[in-house]
Amino acid sequence: MDVFKLLFLGLLLFYANAAPSAVRLFVLSMDHIPTGPSSGKHDSPIWPAWWLAGDDHWNSEFDMFEGYEPDDRAFITLHNWDPELHGNCTIPENITQYYNGSGSTSKRMSQFSPRGTSLGPFNQAGGGVYAMQWDHENFIREWTFVKPNVPADLLDGNPNPNPDTWGMPNAYFPFGKNCNPETINNMYLIFDIAFCGSTATDECKNIVRMQPEAFNETYFLINYMKVFCRPNEQCLTGIYGSG
Ligand SMILES: *[C@@H]1O[C@H](CO)[C@@H](O)[C@H](O)[C@H]1NC(C)=O
Ligand SMILES: *[C@@H]1O[C@H](CO)[C@@H](O)[C@H](O)[C@H]1NC(C)=O
Ligand SMILES: *[C@@H]1O[C@H](CO)[C@@H](O)[C@H](O)[C@H]1NC(C)=O
Ligand SMILES: *[C@@H]1O[C@H](CO)[C@@H](O)[C@H](O)[C@H]1NC(C)=O
Repeated sequence: MDVFKLLFLGLLLFYANAAPSAVRLFVLSMDHIPTGPSSGKHDSPIWPAWWLAGDDHWNSEFDMFEGYEPDDRAFITLHNWDPELHGNCTIPENITQYYNGSGSTSKRMSQFSPRGTSLGPFNQAGGGVYAMQWDHENFIREWTFVKPNVPADLLDGNPNPNPDTWGMPNAYFPFGKNCNPETINNMYLIFDIAFCGSTATDECKNIVRMQPEAFNETYFLINYMKVFCRPNEQCLTGIYGSG
């Protein structure tokens, strides 16, 4: 198993390109997740995220984590940016029985981890681990563990952690006839904290300019990030960092 380990923070970009049979496991162990002033929307003073973005319009986006105060859930979202190429990528109505979260029926592609698994409660617990399994042809599943409920095989440096032993995922997006697996492929892996988003209002900009003390908890404290893949597969290619 290849293990890729990150040792620095900022905006990080990796290239993840999956062969049809590829299975990847992205594991992010955090001691602190960014919190701060927020309107609960994309134009918030802070909008932290850990996500996969396509390298071109046709391949889409998977958000493994977005956080909006005061909602202490991880927002986990599949975007299909090109329905003409990939179809509409709908989720079966009965999907909620396959994951322990909420959201996402039919065309609504956002799922939310249980309350208390992000932001303030996550930090107060001393952090936790988010793990996303991308089985390219079949599904994406994600778990959001808060200490002390992190599975042992994510704590002890196990070279082969096994998601099948972790219980129900907190998000689940099946691929197949309802959603073309190629909707997600050739992705960059990104961490970022957006300030006020692309529609920044003057009110928002003033909060960022005038209230620096409100942002003293706006940081990722990353214990490790690892990407696991099958033997003889290349997990990731290239490393680019900025910010
Ligand atoms: C996708 O959805 C749109 C809007 O509902 C619809 O017009 C279109 O026919 C659908 N495309 C496919 C391939 O199902
Ligand atoms: C859920 O819906 C999908 C697609 O509509 C179907 O293939 C599957 O059998 C259903 N599962 C259950 C448990 O009803
Ligand atoms: C779902 O998650 C909640 C909150 O973490 C937990 O209390 C509950 O036991 C979980 N249920 C299942 C079926 O895993
Ligand atoms: C940020 O400020 C708040 C309020 O003054 C304080 O309680 C907290 O400890 C500070 N956090 C850090 C990391 O300095």
